[in-house]
Amino acid sequence: MDVHDRYEGALSLLRRPDGLIGRLVRGEPGFQARIAEALAGAEKQLQDCAAGAPDPRIAEVTGHLVAAGGKRLRPLLVLLGAEFGESWRDGVTQAAVISELVHLASLHHDDVMDGAETRHGVPTVHTRWGEHVAVLGGDWLLARAAQLAAALGAEAVRLNAHTAGRLVSGQLRELTGPVPGEDPVAHYFQVAAGKAAALLAMSLGMGAVQAAAPAPYAEALTEYGEQLGIAFQIADDLLDLHAPAEVTGKEQGKDLLAGVPSLPVLLVRAGYDDGDRELRALIDAGPGAGAADHRRALELFGRSPATARARAVMHERLELARTALGPLPDLPARRALEELCDVVALRSGRAETGPTT
Ligand code: IPE
Ligand code: IPE
Ligand code: MG
Ligand code: MG
Repeated sequence: MDVHDRYEGALSLLRRPDGLIGRLVRGEPGFQARIAEALAGAEKQLQDCAAGAPDPRIAEVTGHLVAAGGKRLRPLLVLLGAEFGESWRDGVTQAAVISELVHLASLHHDDVMDGAETRHGVPTVHTRWGEHVAVLGGDWLLARAAQLAAALGAEAVRLNAHTAGRLVSGQLRELTGPVPGEDPVAHYFQVAAGKAAALLAMSLGMGAVQAAAPAPYAEALTEYGEQLGIAFQIADDLLDLHAPAEVTGKEQGKDLLAGVPSLPVLLVRAGYDDGDRELRALIDAGPGAGAADHRRALELFGRSPATARARAVMHERLELARTALGPLPDLPARRALEELCDVVALRSGRAETGPTT
């Protein structure tokens, strides 16, 4: 049985005509095959890593979200970044694994923070094993990522540590909220830069460096990742409000229920639109107000100008991401990164990729 058969899960994403990854790499057969193969290799290492915990009970915890799935967007970004390099090294696959391990660790922590019950359509780690185990399991994944980075050299260790620091700081800042006098929307962008953009930027940059890409290419890719990451977080915020659980694998409106100040929520609170008065009152009343109010709030978001405003901000960031690609040569990977901007925009409006969005 070859690696493609064994890691059908990852490859089915590539093959699905409406799947995120399938959409990005279609139309370029050599490129598609190369990415598919590399992604399958990374998937195998990821599964082995999670299963490699010293105790089978720990392995069950650390393997839970790995097995539950996900788009594997960050490994894909590592591979796309590596396409701009001069030589393919094993370090590229390792970097892909590192990026997903750090992501999964952040999901362990984030689900505890949000009290989320489901992810990828399965119970969250803390729902099954409790919060202590979920947080420590996340820490184990971060440690494993650091160990892999050590094998890639000092620069990878530095980048991984820097990114994990930004990510955790973003999550902490989300919890602590803006300091008195700080603009909540400016605070939101700082949080999003840490909790979402940092890792996307690292993925592209590490992929490029591991494949010995010229420094200006690595810098352009990193900047693209920073801008795409903010847009991705805004799209995720919109999806949270507008997409049902069957599509996202997460409860609809869970940010509202958890009191997470997502961008659409902040824009309603900023009070730009008189028509949002009822919605503002529902948000201010908080999640304790009950299921009917929650449903009503979701319905009002569907037609609130705050939704359009958030989408406009997302488009500005996507434009900055496209502009950042300027110095890169016209390769299939560049076209995939351009198309990824369209996919993120589409995702914000219409969830179309099935239960693994
Ligand atoms: C979710 O990321 C967390 C955010 C940064 C918004 P993904 O949407 O990429 O997570 P997967 O695909 O479910 O793993
Ligand atoms: C979380 O962003 C990003 C991290 C995992 C750090 P969200 O809080 O929006 O992610 P979801 O919506 O729970 O996936
Ligand atoms: Mg969350
Ligand atoms: Mg979210």
